[in-house]
Amino acid sequence: MVQLGNLVWSVGTTAAPVCEPTGTIQPSMFNPVGVPGETILSITWLLFVICGGIAIVVLSLIAYAVVRCRRAKGDDLEPPQVYGSNPIELAWTVIPLLIVFLLFMVSARSIFELERTTPPEGALEVTVTGHRWWWEFDYGELGVVTAGELHVPIDEGKPADLFLTLQSADVVHSFWVPQLGGKMDVVPDRTNHLWLQANAPATYVGQCAEFCGNQHANMLIKVIVEPRASFDAWVANQQRDAVNDASVKAGHNLFLRTACINCHTIRGTVANGSFAPDLTHLMSRTTIGSGAARNTPNMLREWVWDPQNIKPGCDMPSMKLSRSEVDLICAYLETLK
Ligand code: CUA
Repeated sequence: MVQLGNLVWSVGTTAAPVCEPTGTIQPSMFNPVGVPGETILSITWLLFVICGGIAIVVLSLIAYAVVRCRRAKGDDLEPPQVYGSNPIELAWTVIPLLIVFLLFMVSARSIFELERTTPPEGALEVTVTGHRWWWEFDYGELGVVTAGELHVPIDEGKPADLFLTLQSADVVHSFWVPQLGGKMDVVPDRTNHLWLQANAPATYVGQCAEFCGNQHANMLIKVIVEPRASFDAWVANQQRDAVNDASVKAGHNLFLRTACINCHTIRGTVANGSFAPDLTHLMSRTTIGSGAARNTPNMLREWVWDPQNIKPGCDMPSMKLSRSEVDLICAYLETLK
């Protein structure tokens, strides 16, 4: 188990902890890094202060009434009854109305500002598809399709804008990276949009925020905001087909002979499945199974040996390979950088 801000990721019996040490990432809405996150936080504080004020006033009046107006010993008289006090009726109608009106205006203004259906100028546009239980990121014209980890460029002195088009391949998921902005549901047969912003390079962590089945907790999102030059290098690498390394020919051939190719794509080979994450640049990602395990040589072997040990219920079955076959395939997969 790993404590991560106020979130804890726990993983299957054989799996190692997946996330970076505490301190590098703070998946908290109380630490926003852009306009959407800051706007939502300021509404949250406004609501908290107003509701807290109401609670204090109401509870204080109750406490006062309980203490001051309790029945005295030997006092059997009914207290004076008050009916139809216009000032009181007016006060408890008008004050709540004013409060609700204020909250409505503040929320409406923010919704108009944040819920964009067109991208802000210069924003990176990515189509996100929620799957049980992983995220697919399609960069459209850039020709990059990846899983779990979203790379975003940032220029010096300017915030990075990200405009997402959200779709679901199966059930309702919810895309939420708390520091970057609001939460948006990902709904089958419906297209939603989400504007996120980050004003500093870092890795921002999020999670699926709508219960979507037994591995809902293992739908990690990593948004890697990086300087333009490293983003461009990343894109150039992702655009390349997989290398065909002669030293891992046996693993390459074995992979292409198994059912792996029905679900996974490795560009440059006959593997072109689309049910599961694209593996063309598998080793450029830090986790396996959308955060179910770290992407290390050992964990990769455990994953290919039997994914159900690490992420029970996920769509990938154990391929019933021998340990030496797993080694061959993983040696090949490790060349997919
Ligand atoms: Cu996807 Cu919860």
